[in-house]
Amino acid sequence: PLPQVLDEAMIVAVVHGFYDKIRKDDLLGPIFNGAIAEADWPPHLNNMCDFWSSTLLRTGRYEGRPLPPHLALPGLGKEHFQRWLSLFQTTVHDLCPPEVAELFMDRAMRIAHSFRLAIAFNRGE
Ligand code: HEM
Repeated sequence: PLPQVLDEAMIVAVVHGFYDKIRKDDLLGPIFNGAIAEADWPPHLNNMCDFWSSTLLRTGRYEGRPLPPHLALPGLGKEHFQRWLSLFQTTVHDLCPPEVAELFMDRAMRIAHSFRLAIAFNRGE
């Protein structure tokens, strides 16, 4: 049965479900699989669980800097962020009750927007 509240188990399910989709995606799969070697996926998924746990549950477990790796990916544009958000939307819709899905989406959209602004600024647009 699916959990009904936002807890660590739900974050693990969302993160793993989402990157399963990402890795198979025609547009985003090659970018992620190119940047993250096979052996580095388990630590990446752990890091992403820490990130969402810090972001939504305020556990303070993530101490990284989310922006720099995205500035280093060449040619990241609107269509990539739209696909990312659409896969994330499908994932949280399938795995979470509506209020929790909304919480994830609200945060993901804000961060995606701030990344896009930072990328544009970085390019001097
Ligand atoms: C890390 C790609 C959007 C959060 C990464 C990495 C890649 C990547 C390849 C791993 C970099 C590395 O370890 O070398 C993308 C692409 C995106 C996207 C292609 C959209 C077009 C987002 C969004 C969020 C996000 C919207 C947040 C809601 C993160 C975080 C990390 C990460 C927290 C880990 C950073 C760290 O601690 O080093 N991303 N990302 N990404 N991404 Fe994204």
